[in-house]
Amino acid sequence: MSSSKPLSVLFVCLGNICRSPTAHGVFEQKLVRAGLADQVSVDSAGTAAYHIGKQPDSRSQKAALERGYDLSTQRARQAISEDFDRFDYVLAMDSENLRNLQAIKPANGKTDPVLFLQKYSTMSELEVPDPYYGGAQGFEYVLDLVEDASDHLIEDIQKRLQA
Ligand code: 4NP
Repeated sequence: MSSSKPLSVLFVCLGNICRSPTAHGVFEQKLVRAGLADQVSVDSAGTAAYHIGKQPDSRSQKAALERGYDLSTQRARQAISEDFDRFDYVLAMDSENLRNLQAIKPANGKTDPVLFLQKYSTMSELEVPDPYYGGAQGFEYVLDLVEDASDHLIEDIQKRLQA
């Protein structure tokens, strides 16, 4: 949600129970480790209303916890038009999420949504693949991708805060 911190980041996927909660949990912990937790607020949302109010998928929680990220306090919500004014970064997990966000962004909304990996990853993927209908390795790959891109997003934020 919006806050009085200088910068704010919103991660967005479809259901807000797999990819974006994972990115939210990973990025929040990286902010703590970088000493930036009081500078940057973090949230996540889904473009669909399927899972509003639910905890992250148990497979996402398990995979994340094995790497030290606790997602259990998160609850799914749907992305809304006000998010483009509330957040400085609106980061879509895949191109369908990006199109859905562009469709609800008001013409005078502040922040343009971007593909998280296209902007911040050093890996070859441009999108975080949806793990929902697949096996356990899909959830591991989500973590691999968002950990890498989160490191580069931290660097971008450090530069922005120092500018
Ligand atoms: P997410 O994964 O967008 O990463 O949260 C999904 C979760 C649920 C569904 C699709 C994707 N679903 O169709 O219910």
